[in-house]
Amino acid sequence: MIERSQSQGYAGPVITATIEQLPIPRTLDVEGGDGFRRSAAVSNAVEHAVWGHDDFCTAPDERIAMMQPSPDREYVLGVARDGSSIVANARLGFPLRDNLQAAFLQIEVLPAYRRRGLGAALLAFAEQQVRLRGRTTIMSWSDVAVGDDRDQGAMIVPPTGAGSFPAGDASAILALRSGFELVQVDRLSVLHLDRLEGVQQLEQDAGRVGAPDYELVAWGGRCPDGLLADYSLLRRKMSTDPPLGGFAQEEEQWDADRIRREEGRSAEGGTSSLVCAARHRPSGHLVGHTILERFASRPTIVYQEDTLVLDEHRGHRLGLWLKAANFRRVLAEWPGAERVYTWNAEENTFMLDVNVALGFRPAGRTAGWQKVLPPHRFGDASGVT
Ligand SMILES: CC(C)(COP(=O)(O)OP(=O)(O)OC[C@H]1O[C@@H](n2cnc3c(N)ncnc32)[C@H](O)[C@@H]1OP(=O)(O)O)[C@@H](O)C(=O)NCCC(=O)NCCS
Repeated sequence: MIERSQSQGYAGPVITATIEQLPIPRTLDVEGGDGFRRSAAVSNAVEHAVWGHDDFCTAPDERIAMMQPSPDREYVLGVARDGSSIVANARLGFPLRDNLQAAFLQIEVLPAYRRRGLGAALLAFAEQQVRLRGRTTIMSWSDVAVGDDRDQGAMIVPPTGAGSFPAGDASAILALRSGFELVQVDRLSVLHLDRLEGVQQLEQDAGRVGAPDYELVAWGGRCPDGLLADYSLLRRKMSTDPPLGGFAQEEEQWDADRIRREEGRSAEGGTSSLVCAARHRPSGHLVGHTILERFASRPTIVYQEDTLVLDEHRGHRLGLWLKAANFRRVLAEWPGAERVYTWNAEENTFMLDVNVALGFRPAGRTAGWQKVLPPHRFGDASGVT
């Protein structure tokens, strides 16, 4: 537990914040469920503050289902309280099957509680949790909306040279001061489905290029048994084939069991998905795929997840064909859907070109931060007990 008293010079009421680990119960209606619900409300309030809308908020029951431990990943939740109210979170994810060096971190502080040391205290908590598990590399992300005032000031550029992020954003100041490096910048893009024009034409044109040797196979939710081995390979490749900037990400281990676990977890979390894959006719194998997802609690919002074409099958317009075909399915199968969001590395010009052709427009910048922890020196006082 960390006790952090507010020092002189900060605006706002004087508080003594307590940082503690919050259990993640099985469901919201058992002991601990109320605390989890309050912490989820903090996450959603912070999303709202960044974007000015609720498109990235998630319902607490969906969030709790997605954070259940599995053989693939474990989650740790740290919170800061002001009295009995939860006012800030550190959400940590630890991969368990691969990337055993890594930890994924999000820190969220309610706007009214910023500049009082809570972000720094939660970071100390997170680093302690990371070290306890013998991990060395923390990866974290932060966002600004397009048109945000902070966009006007100095910008920092990652070593990839692609994209930039406002140096004056609180997340950048805290990250750089705490030993993180900016290793990649993503572009968040949005597609308003009522402005999706010519998708049928794009699908037909791309399909004409691919059709002699390839065909599309589509499913929703559950991958057909006979395609599981091929689909596992595509999911594995998706972890390292897209540009990773400076992220020290290792290939993820995917097999049929992991696919089924993910599908089960998504279904429990109220997520539906539309998957479209490209099959190479001569070999009979899947060689590319694309995934769209949405939450039951927010049926107007769709997330573009993976899109991948295996190296040796690139150059046949399969990426555009897959995406255009899957968007047409959204119009037919998810009539309430209004907007699609996607994140792409700024150096991923091929995918960005496809997205622009489909009508996606920039909506935000996401900074990818990484910190490789220095070896722990005996006798270091972390302030965490
Ligand atoms: C980034 C964020 C977590 C910072 O939380 P916080 O509780 O305000 O941070 P702290 O008070 O611990 O600040 C620690 C240091 O960071 C720097 N800092 C943080 N916010 C700053 C700001 N708005 N302006 C200037 N410096 C700032 C300062 O150096 C500060 O130390 P100081 O106050 O002693 O000068 C918070 O702004 C937030 O939740 N943002 C939205 C979500 C996000 O981007 N999370 C980070 C990615 S995971």
